[in-house]
Amino acid sequence: MAAAFVTGSAPALLSGLSRACGTTNTNSKKVTPTTVSRISNRSVISMGPGRKFLVGGNWKCNLDTAGVSSLVEALNAGTALDESAVEVVVSPAAPYLGLTKKLLRDDFAVAGQNAWISKGGAYTGEVDAVMLKDVGASWLIVGHSERRHLEEIKETDAICATKTRYALDSGLKVIFCIGELLEEREAGTTMDVCTRQLTALAGVISPGEWKDVVVAYEPVWAIGTGKVATPAQADEVHRGVRSWLSSNVSAAVADSTRILYGGSVNPKNCGELAKLPDIDGFLVGGASLKPDFLEIVDAYKSSAVAV
Ligand code: PGA
Repeated sequence: MAAAFVTGSAPALLSGLSRACGTTNTNSKKVTPTTVSRISNRSVISMGPGRKFLVGGNWKCNLDTAGVSSLVEALNAGTALDESAVEVVVSPAAPYLGLTKKLLRDDFAVAGQNAWISKGGAYTGEVDAVMLKDVGASWLIVGHSERRHLEEIKETDAICATKTRYALDSGLKVIFCIGELLEEREAGTTMDVCTRQLTALAGVISPGEWKDVVVAYEPVWAIGTGKVATPAQADEVHRGVRSWLSSNVSAAVADSTRILYGGSVNPKNCGELAKLPDIDGFLVGGASLKPDFLEIVDAYKSSAVAV
């Protein structure tokens, strides 16, 4: 499908960011010269030594045993990763997590798509993060827009925060998704929404735990729609998120936390997005169900984050 673009209002976004950041002066934080570069007269925090490119494949509620087996076979046929430069995580539906882990190449990790908010027990139908870890997961996706917005689920910021806390306590790393609805973008509240979601996250983790958390910016209007954010739109929010981290957590956390872009990423559009200094990888849905997901993984070669 041809990519279409949703126009965003840059001034509206920026005013949203300054509102969301309150009165804190982002420039007052200590940022070392090696972590700051100037692009178009704007100060941005650029790549830090710890920001290894990460590509996640979110298989959602797709694939059966045969489908998982054949996709994994195709992924296994790809060339070995340069593990010093890129990390790959695929996320099968829960019943196939153990199978995926068993069949999948060792240089790819496995993530759960959801877990219960805390320790298991009398919670019919739920899965404890510890169980996901037991069958091979090392990551958990939290706060995906489908879980936040589907009428049947409607996870709140508080639920996403609680799940993150428990996942970290269970030894899983977390891909924490944030992002605005189309009407929120059109109302100029993109950064208000993203920072509200980040505030819930920051409230439950200590600065030292950010190393186990990756933020995925996924504009809801771009998920599964073929409407990828333009590089400028993605860049603006990614810089805003990093700036928020600098103001509200620390310059070190802002510098080292990976921020992925998600929403209709495919082999054709990933190269341009990967070049942006504040895009540290992707969370891929539809295009991760095909063997050419490996082409998106390869986008790390065009990344400014290359370590
Ligand atoms: P998409 O999904 O790549 O199909 O847009 C992304 C996601 O939901 O993480």
